[in-house]
Amino acid sequence: MEIVHTPVLVKETLVFLGPRRDGELMADGTIGEGGHSEAFLRNFPGIRIVGIDADQTILETAKKRLAEFGNEIELHVGWAQVFFAERRNTFDTILIDSGISVFHYTKSGRGFSFSKDEPLDMRLDTGQGKSAADIVAELPERDFADLLFNNAEERYSWRIAHAVVEARTRGRIESAGALANIVERAVPPAYRRARLHPATKTFQALRMAVNGELIRLPSLLENAMNALKVQGRLGFISFESLTDRMVKLFFKERCTAKKLSLVTKSAVCASVEEVRRNPPSRSARLRVIEKKREKENI
Ligand SMILES: C[S@@+](CC[C@H](N)C(=O)[O-])C[C@H]1O[C@@H](n2cnc3c(N)ncnc32)[C@H](O)[C@@H]1O
Repeated sequence: MEIVHTPVLVKETLVFLGPRRDGELMADGTIGEGGHSEAFLRNFPGIRIVGIDADQTILETAKKRLAEFGNEIELHVGWAQVFFAERRNTFDTILIDSGISVFHYTKSGRGFSFSKDEPLDMRLDTGQGKSAADIVAELPERDFADLLFNNAEERYSWRIAHAVVEARTRGRIESAGALANIVERAVPPAYRRARLHPATKTFQALRMAVNGELIRLPSLLENAMNALKVQGRLGFISFESLTDRMVKLFFKERCTAKKLSLVTKSAVCASVEEVRRNPPSRSARLRVIEKKREKENI
């Protein structure tokens, strides 16, 4: 078992989502390699955690890593929004650490990274749905440009979409490397020399589309809220600004309707020290709410 992901905002999640009573039940809705769950199990003996992940492969790592905790941890493969839909009023706390793990970029072999020439798949659940290569092959130019702009605010969405549609007339774009080259050639030279690789946003937008990240976000939040007990707490960590904006708006609307209260008044970010130690934590935003009422009253 090799652990490659460093969990973000661990101290902060322990503070905001730590148990307030004995024998609490927590759901780690996106357990990944189990970094957050391990921290909770070590720091709070007596807590029980149900861990969920859409990716069967990464769940195997969590299983080995957390084996020593025996019955205190239970694992489920599947989408968290589906899992929560079937469990009303069940959990004292829920953590959602959204997006993908370092494992996906570096070890999955599924084309999440523009710097690795792997098959262009990007599915978390490889057993269903369209791969990134399918989307790149099928989407009309205008829809592809919209996807890049709407999911990742890619300013050269039209140029990239045009170049992709042109390139695919010569054959299916099957690899991450091939797509990264097309994007690199499509954008202006200054963009090529910028701090971010020019294909960063294209790859982010595709990954979000393949896994329905924005489309499924409202049901993930709604179902997680319903799966909480009254006074239960939900912590949500976002890495993309669009995701964070949607989470903030969802919480704000329900707060106005007195269905929940904000535990964190604004998003909690990583400390300077954490960003130095673990640079991907730079874009992490944690928001925590507490449920006030059951659904009948909502
Ligand atoms: C950022 S990683 C979580 C890292 C984890 N907290 C740790 O400490 O190792 C996000 C994980 O959530 C999974 N995932 C993303 N969206 C999901 C969803 N809607 N339902 C279930 N799993 C999801 C991904 O497969 C990935 O393993």
